[in-house]
Amino acid sequence: MRKFLVPGVGAALVAGVLLAPGNAAVAADSPDISVTNTKAHLDQLQSIATSNGGNRYTGRPGYKASADYVKAKLDAAGYTTTLQSFSTSAGTSYNVIAEWPHGDADHVVMAGSHLDSVSAGPGINDNGSGSAGVLETALAYAASGQTPKNRLRFGFWGSEELGLLGSKYYVNNLPAADRDKIELYLNFDMIASPNPGYFVYDDNPSGDAARDDLVTYFTGKNVQTEFIDVQGRSDHAAFRSLGIPTAGTFSGAEEIKTSAQATKWGGTAGQAFDACYHRSCDTISNLDLTSLDRQIDAIGHMIWLYAQKDYTGGPPPAGGNLLQNPGFESGTANWTGTTGPITDNTGRPAHSGSWKAWLQGNGRATTENIAQSVAIPATATAASLSLWIRIDTAETTSATVYDTVKVQVVDGSTATTLATYSNLDKSASYVQKTLDVTQYKGKTVTVKFVGQEDSSAQTSFVIDDVALTAG
Ligand code: PHE
Ligand code: ZN
Ligand code: ZN
Ligand code: CA
Repeated sequence: MRKFLVPGVGAALVAGVLLAPGNAAVAADSPDISVTNTKAHLDQLQSIATSNGGNRYTGRPGYKASADYVKAKLDAAGYTTTLQSFSTSAGTSYNVIAEWPHGDADHVVMAGSHLDSVSAGPGINDNGSGSAGVLETALAYAASGQTPKNRLRFGFWGSEELGLLGSKYYVNNLPAADRDKIELYLNFDMIASPNPGYFVYDDNPSGDAARDDLVTYFTGKNVQTEFIDVQGRSDHAAFRSLGIPTAGTFSGAEEIKTSAQATKWGGTAGQAFDACYHRSCDTISNLDLTSLDRQIDAIGHMIWLYAQKDYTGGPPPAGGNLLQNPGFESGTANWTGTTGPITDNTGRPAHSGSWKAWLQGNGRATTENIAQSVAIPATATAASLSLWIRIDTAETTSATVYDTVKVQVVDGSTATTLATYSNLDKSASYVQKTLDVTQYKGKTVTVKFVGQEDSSAQTSFVIDDVALTAG
């Protein structure tokens, strides 16, 4: 089934596309990304390796030929491409960056894969598979004739095998303003392992929505998934460390498939997902085409879905919460400030869910803060800021303030403290506070919580379920 509909609501329901409440975008039906075309890209990468000493390693001719192949295909499809070179201990390396020159450039959705192999072999599963899949998805999007709401960008990274060098080089050389525009980065590194598993990355709370979309997609195709905490093992890490939401999939490398995994996915228990991982036998014969087919359709699903995501916020409903991620369940997403306070550490309870902002509790002279910018509509007749706070302390005094948290509104360069809570306000359970912020209507201000402790005896100020409402 190949449908490139830009459907109305009826078609979206027929296609089974469930849109999150409040998301006005209408997602096009999931595409069927061609496994035949993807396999043809892999044949080309194999022949590039074969005619260049058997690999596509950094600094060797097989790598540059791989980059030239991918770039030429994207150029021909109408992408704006860049060959970004950088130097490594193994020689010059290259990233290929391709942008579809349509859609809102302030909201960028990215997918990427590493294009280099190890020196031992041609690297067809690792990572010809992800590269061919991302390339074919990009080509299919161009051919679909759709105009995305957001800007789509694809990255083919050099020198992943030398320590994620290409993706790090790319993010380190992106101006801060451009980093902020990247709404999502999806990574695909090894997606056609010969004894495949279906793993979904789970290592970045701000990517949980995309992670869940991947799981929902596979579940809808009757493919069970497992989460995997891939941490720094692939190129999404550079994006994640900038606070960009990331997600990805993986069909397994050197790890051994368990019998429970063989029961759910087929294949052979007691053997590696990819016994040729990083070896000369990672050739065109080292692929499971069913895994490849399912995985590329998942890439297509995510690109079509996120191409239409509404990242502009739209007008908030009257009386609704103007703060994003107000209960901290998406980790640090939407919040700025010092590192550490936003946590799911179980040392203190959340008011709801498991995440909260645990300010201070250090027992030494320190200060911590978290903040979020918010626009309060000019049309509001009243606006209020509410929060739940739980305070415990090792201070024994009932008279002296030693440790504090201030609730502030920052308007331009002026910070106004609306309330101060201290070690004297300790309470074993959460207490709700409501503060009036009507005077800031029509302004974009920053809501800020600032903690401060003296040199001994901890006080923990734990804040959760913050709301700024205007009506
Ligand atoms: N990045 C690893 C490699 O290229 C493969 C990998 C991907 C491992 C994702 C774990 C998770 O060798
Ligand atoms: Zn590898
Ligand atoms: Zn890899
Ligand atoms: Ca919470």
